[in-house]
Amino acid sequence: MRHLIDILDLSVEEINEILATAEDIIANPAKYAHSCAGKQLATLFYEPSTRTRLSFESAMLSLGGEVLGFSEASSSSASKGESVADTIRVISCYADIVAMRHPKEGAPMVASMYSTIPVINAGDGGHNHPTQTLTDLLTIKREKGRLKDFTIGFCGDLKFGRTVHSLIEALSRYEGINIVLISPEELKLPSYVKKEILKAKNIPYTQTTDLLEVMPQLDILYMTRVQKERFFSEEEYLRLRDSYILTVEKLETAKKDLTIMHPLPRVNEISVAVDNDPRACYFKQVQNGKYARMALILKLLEVL
Ligand code: CP
Repeated sequence: MRHLIDILDLSVEEINEILATAEDIIANPAKYAHSCAGKQLATLFYEPSTRTRLSFESAMLSLGGEVLGFSEASSSSASKGESVADTIRVISCYADIVAMRHPKEGAPMVASMYSTIPVINAGDGGHNHPTQTLTDLLTIKREKGRLKDFTIGFCGDLKFGRTVHSLIEALSRYEGINIVLISPEELKLPSYVKKEILKAKNIPYTQTTDLLEVMPQLDILYMTRVQKERFFSEEEYLRLRDSYILTVEKLETAKKDLTIMHPLPRVNEISVAVDNDPRACYFKQVQNGKYARMALILKLLEVL
């Protein structure tokens, strides 16, 4: 039995296989319409979500399976003090696979230690978000036609942005990736990601606070939201939340084939006027998320 807690739980070959399956699902959806008939996905969301939870549910339904779960801790027995370990033992009696989001880093990993069904990390605190990474890789592959030889700028909250941490981990295993880290001093990429991933794997990277300065060199711009829910101080959040607002004017020096990504939700960091720019890919990312998760469910349930 396999779990997906960290994107590094999958080999590059397995990631490429999942992306290939996702592309086949896009091309031939009817072929997969009953692949998970009789199977059930449980979505255990202890933290809010729109895309991840609903795309998992849509994915399972589109595979002919069924879904159950909760969308907030307060409607589960976690509110009475039940542990993650006990909860997953219970859910293992009801479902075939589970997607769990939790505000505490490591909670899905703890769940996997007690589970008898595959556990998927659907986001744990400010740590990791591996299924967003599959979504992002599928988007890059479809937009760029390759998963190598590009410069990607990560902009915004690189400290708490779990999607950034997971995508950097994944990209560190592909060739010719240059990384530009764009953030305020207070929201820089955690030193453990720099040390264990970028430095350990000799990935070329630069750090700056100035988005405009680096804009012309980027093939991909990955914008992120400042993660209000991870701040201890409202004042600090308010001071930093508008550090970067991508506008049409700021894109004037960008490459004509720039790919603009954002895991969403967006608050204020991309002007809505940018949505009309053909380089804006964040809503395509949302669509790709469903197909990536369909492919992942098939893989972990060993349906294919
Ligand atoms: N990208 C993402 O994780 O969105 P949700 O928080 O809406 O699931």
